[in-house]
Amino acid sequence: MILPIYLYGNPVLRRATEEIDADYPQLRQLVDDMFETLTHADGCGLAAPQIGKSIRLFVVDGTELTDDYPECKDFKKVFINPQLIEQSDDTCTYSEGCLSLPGISENVVRAKKIRLYYQDLDFNEHEEDFDGFCARIILHEYDHLEGNVFTDRISPIRRQFVKGKLQGIAKGRVGAKYKTR
Ligand code: NI
Repeated sequence: MILPIYLYGNPVLRRATEEIDADYPQLRQLVDDMFETLTHADGCGLAAPQIGKSIRLFVVDGTELTDDYPECKDFKKVFINPQLIEQSDDTCTYSEGCLSLPGISENVVRAKKIRLYYQDLDFNEHEEDFDGFCARIILHEYDHLEGNVFTDRISPIRRQFVKGKLQGIAKGRVGAKYKTR
């Protein structure tokens, strides 16, 4: 089932998120729905707050980006209860967008490499290194679990520049090709 994506301005995007365990109701269905929603909206990551749930869960699918970013081959995964363990001092800058902020793309500086703790859908524990575009997608989605969006990370001048657009989204004046709330 395709779920509506909550847009900038909705308080759920700023709320703290809670860890979940295997008793979380209909988790597999929720993850299936999140992947379906992500594919339909043509995105590469979707975090639970973006579908209105304040839990520590996000899904990624970078497989369509493999031509440009070979590290994204097979990068279709579920991350549950992630914790960022390490970030490299080495950074890189890329233009980012977000399904909750339609029509905005801005350069964001992020670590090149990260080490992440997370659980998979069976709640097996992992500690894994990611780099390149995979690291970027994870850091973007991880931000959502912390109540942040990528425009929090852009320069003050650029933030001033996109302020009007952000207000437009918050006031419902901006449409998207996908279902929103
Ligand atoms: Ni996003």
